[in-house]
Amino acid sequence: MNFELKSLDAAGCAAAKCDALLVLVPEDFKPGADALSGWIAQARKAGDFEPKPGKTLALYRPQGVAATRVVLAGSGDGAARQVRQAVLAGMGTLRQARRLVLACAGPWAESALRAALCAVADATYAYTATKSRPEPRKLAQVVVAVADVAAARAAFDQAVALVAGVEFAKEWGNRPGNHATPALIAGAAKSLARHGGIQCEVLGPREVAKLGMGAFMAVAQGSQEPLRFIVLRYNGGARGTAPTVLVGKGISFDTGGISIKPAAEMDEMKFDMCGAASVLGVFRALAELRPAVNVVGLIASCENMPDGHAIKPGDVVTSMSGQTIEILNTDAEGRLILCDALTYAERFKPAAVIDIATLTGACVVALGGVRSGLFANDDALAAALQAAGEEALDPCWRLPLDDDYADGLKTHFADVANVAGRAAGAVTAAKFLQRFAGQQPWAHLDIAGTAWKSGAAKGATGRPVGLLLHYLLQAQPAAKAAPARKRRSAAAG
Ligand code: BES
Ligand code: MN
Ligand code: ZN
Repeated sequence: MNFELKSLDAAGCAAAKCDALLVLVPEDFKPGADALSGWIAQARKAGDFEPKPGKTLALYRPQGVAATRVVLAGSGDGAARQVRQAVLAGMGTLRQARRLVLACAGPWAESALRAALCAVADATYAYTATKSRPEPRKLAQVVVAVADVAAARAAFDQAVALVAGVEFAKEWGNRPGNHATPALIAGAAKSLARHGGIQCEVLGPREVAKLGMGAFMAVAQGSQEPLRFIVLRYNGGARGTAPTVLVGKGISFDTGGISIKPAAEMDEMKFDMCGAASVLGVFRALAELRPAVNVVGLIASCENMPDGHAIKPGDVVTSMSGQTIEILNTDAEGRLILCDALTYAERFKPAAVIDIATLTGACVVALGGVRSGLFANDDALAAALQAAGEEALDPCWRLPLDDDYADGLKTHFADVANVAGRAAGAVTAAKFLQRFAGQQPWAHLDIAGTAWKSGAAKGATGRPVGLLLHYLLQAQPAAKAAPARKRRSAAAG
């Protein structure tokens, strides 16, 4: 899918040859003298169209318009949320379109433009990787009509990069466990390095053993699939500027191990690498946008399986930090692979470390699929992430880290246990991770509820790529002022 930014007024939109013209109509729309405005005004007067989000009016081959189909979609207050709703509703009636012109019968706010492009991509995404007769998305070209191309350029470029990143994350999130093994995930990371601007290093079992990542290795030891530790680097910022380190949980499949999970919906544990997929997605977006920021991506990837070699409840392992861990439940494996990655992060002297993980069912109970769980040992970092989530329509909610929550992690047999009781499970998981973040400014995003959807619409969401990209572009202020580097094509492939 290719995005193009064009200066088109109402008459230009009416003259544009395309399959479909989607016009967003805000509540405060003031009709002009053009034909399109005329209809909108008439339809409103007749009560056939209301500019509320979710409301649409479809026209087929209307006179005086070059497009085959025209859809008016009410965009309410014109803010990002309602624009997203409008585009999703509008695209629902435009499944056949190959060439779309997307216009707004009012000014585009920057965040609304981003939301609109993401919604077009969301509404037309098609998973094809493991189908014998793939049905790829029909939509090939999206022309975004604006009044002033130069004024809209920055928001447009960001949106195009974000779409590429979100789609990359969805793609890898959706692949089944046997088509997204640790080695294949590492291959995906390596493929990003071909974009230029990105370096990728992949460590296997031998290197990881040398580093002393005993907690990570313990999870992998029950699987036939060898683990991978992936290090991605993007250095668009000034030399010596402390990087932001993103750490992704990359469990390619989580059976629970010896503490095995029940059969129902266990297939969804193929999504247990969505944290890793979001890190890949952010790097895909960075490759597209080339902002002046320094970012390191770390992915710990392995499979959690029951086996003769698997770890058992009660086993004690030594993490890279030197702390010993009693593994009371082998299904609490995410924190075991992340703790070693957090220790590894220290070598980058990061401005901030953010781990992203489908960590706990308890977080799904607490926050559902609307907001990701946010934990942080640093108030400024928490505030910046929370704000980025709001702005990107990819929200999160901060949960507490009082030390009293760590009481349940105490054990007689090691420095720490990997689980506490049932109460506040998302918090006790975060308390475990906090021990290994040490003095680094650290945040943890529990995306167990937001990384994928269950049921009829089962599939990865690509969250929280939007939140993270937004945070990165905001956190390192030079990002915006950077001279434009040579960009790749705007194709979001
Ligand atoms: N990957 C799961 C968390 C999960 C469960 C995400 C369901 C989404 C839906 C994680 O590895 C896990 O199994 N966590 C356990 C922890 C428990 C044993 C303390 C959980 O949440 O049940
Ligand atoms: Mn588990
Ligand atoms: Zn898991």
